[in-house]
Amino acid sequence: MYKVPYGPTYEEMLHPSTIEDKTRKEALKAKEDELDPLNLFNITWRDEQNDIRKIVLPKALTGVDANIVVLLGKYYPSGSHKVGPAYSTLMEGCIDRSIIPGKHTILGPSTGNFGIGVAYICNLMKYDSIVIMPDNMSKERYERITKYGAKLDLTPGTESDVILTLERTFDLVKKNANYRSLAQFELFPNYRFHRYVTGHSAIEAVKGIGNGRIACFASAPGSAGTLGAGDEIKKAFPEAKIAALEPYECSTLMDGGRGQHRIEGIGDKMCTLIHNVLNTDFIALIKDEESVRGLKIIHDAPHILESWGVSKEDAHAMKDLFGVSGICNIIGAIKMAKYLRLGESDNIVTVATDGFDRYDSVLSDLEKRSLETEDYVLNRWFKDVFRKQTIEDISDMRSLKNKERLFLQKEKDWIKFGYEKAYLDRMKHMDFWDGEYDKIKEYDRKIKEMRGTYVT
Ligand SMILES: Cc1ncc(COP(=O)(O)O)c(C=O)c1O
Repeated sequence: MYKVPYGPTYEEMLHPSTIEDKTRKEALKAKEDELDPLNLFNITWRDEQNDIRKIVLPKALTGVDANIVVLLGKYYPSGSHKVGPAYSTLMEGCIDRSIIPGKHTILGPSTGNFGIGVAYICNLMKYDSIVIMPDNMSKERYERITKYGAKLDLTPGTESDVILTLERTFDLVKKNANYRSLAQFELFPNYRFHRYVTGHSAIEAVKGIGNGRIACFASAPGSAGTLGAGDEIKKAFPEAKIAALEPYECSTLMDGGRGQHRIEGIGDKMCTLIHNVLNTDFIALIKDEESVRGLKIIHDAPHILESWGVSKEDAHAMKDLFGVSGICNIIGAIKMAKYLRLGESDNIVTVATDGFDRYDSVLSDLEKRSLETEDYVLNRWFKDVFRKQTIEDISDMRSLKNKERLFLQKEKDWIKFGYEKAYLDRMKHMDFWDGEYDKIKEYDRKIKEMRGTYVT
């Protein structure tokens, strides 16, 4: 017998206004204590007034006519939207009776934010947890994970060595029957969360901006969960293009490239199982050093932004909103606006998965490497990173030949983990993805029925 944790449905994460009144009020109050389990009801893109948290970037920053709308993930409990997939995967497991509190230990293979989300959610939902991640990520990540009470199991390397964490997880689960993995790269609650919650939030975020539609959704995949939002965006706006952004230094999806890079959270040297490549129209490569330099300018040099025409208010408001991958996404959105020749009525949506709070050490490292960060250097960086982006390194992935290449990459990455080719073949049809998405209704019904109750 165990108690199913009291947490939200997918619908309540998209529309917290539908949460029963008393719980919603208590959840908003619980923000004062981040370890209060009622914070599960604060897993949403919306603020207290039920508005989507976003910023429309100043055109003096982007230099393009199109409106670039960035959804802000830093306000989620634990500081990034990755807590949404972590919660959804754990809650679905609980509902399916495959992950039992008090009995099972949760494994979270990750390069950071998902691990932080797993550690946090397990604290709130009373599970023991182990986060398996590379040993060369920013130190702020390890501090958060241990603060939330999870154990760390470190594998060698950096962001692009995430496959080692998957292999370690695979081995651990084989050896210990009480281990359960929240496998973000292969489990569909991640896809469901982003297609439903992020997808519809993005659609709502552009209301009243430009023509109110989305011309392009650009996002750099780690697990490719966030990219799942694109499937819903395309349903609402069939003309929308979906762009996957990769590090220039690790262009696995574009051309099989594999290398170390500095954009934590993305570019994991694989085509993840939950990546619906049918809807990936373009791939654009973003240089890692430009993403880090862009972060330095936005966080440390609002005066440089002002000198380029960004208002003082906007320059200061942006300081803490982005992490390195958020800047990568902004650069990608700028490139796509140019490539697609978008005008001032067009909107591009992208995402800032987390905020600045976990990247102090990344900027210290940049300063050590750069030796000089005087204003004239920062001014040059501003120009290069934001204003002089080109349409180089963008690949049109809509041809059958390119899709076939991505299907093959997926086979190479996943058959070794026991997935059958026949199963992977089913992913070549949109019916497969719609079928996974449609499970939301049944999960929501069961979550409402079972949460807070004892089940055997
Ligand atoms: C900082 C950061 N950016 C981007 C991503 C990529 O998001 P997704 O896993 O949904 O593709 C992650 C994932 O962990 C992340 O931590």
